[in-house]
Amino acid sequence: MALWGRAKRDAQEIQLDATRLPRHVAIIMDGNGRWAKRRGQPRAFGHRAGVEALRAIIRHSSDIGIEALTIYAFSTENWSRPKDEVSALMSLLLEFFGREIEELHENRVCIRILGDVDGMPGPQREALRAAMERTRLNEGLKLNIALNYGSRAEIVRAARIIAERVERGELRADQVDSAIFEGCLYTAGLPDVDLLIRTSGEMRLSNFLLYQVSYAEFVVVDTLWPDFDLHAYRAALAEYQHRDRRFGGVKA
Ligand code: FPP
Repeated sequence: MALWGRAKRDAQEIQLDATRLPRHVAIIMDGNGRWAKRRGQPRAFGHRAGVEALRAIIRHSSDIGIEALTIYAFSTENWSRPKDEVSALMSLLLEFFGREIEELHENRVCIRILGDVDGMPGPQREALRAAMERTRLNEGLKLNIALNYGSRAEIVRAARIIAERVERGELRADQVDSAIFEGCLYTAGLPDVDLLIRTSGEMRLSNFLLYQVSYAEFVVVDTLWPDFDLHAYRAALAEYQHRDRRFGGVKA
């Protein structure tokens, strides 16, 4: 609790212009394993601490009026991690939804899962479906959790959906445009990502939202995810507010 109090106080030092917040923030939460290793603990210990960091970031995003927050929780490649780590992550997921869903719902958070929900183990699949159904009509923060997600697979899936529509005669090939394509991505209806944050200093996208980050501003911080507190988050938002976004054009 003391740590939460300190983070909260420090965070207020960072001034933000409420009229220029990013509409859509995406986060690659990296560094849980290294955080645990530095403490001589198993990787699962880092993931558990990572969930605590995540709770604070979700709450703050909702409090300050961010429209959409998308987090990378588990990629299609993460299944190849050691069995006990995968199993710890799956347990944390169940725990997270069991513990947080009511508070998220009360705060009008709308949960969407990006990824192959059908490919998740049974209990997780049920919990994810229940969370989406429970919060479906909420009009607060749009919280998108990428789980069993890979961006290339998402793009291929969209191409297949469109091809099937053309095959059925519902659509002509010359009608396919970016709006139709975007409507077939898991992120359909969401604004483009404005700000992509990656923790732990790695400069790569790791198969995350390849299409949606086309004009996003990237902020990479050295902080490991469990240490990414509200101060660090507001600093990333402030950095975004200093960027000069041109979307391929020139400054007027
Ligand atoms: C990357 O760190 C992190 C992950 C693969 C998992 C992120 C998951 C959470 C923060 C918690 C689960 C989420 C929910 C919604 C309950 P890493 O393990 O690759 O770290 P390393 O690069 O230091 O090894």
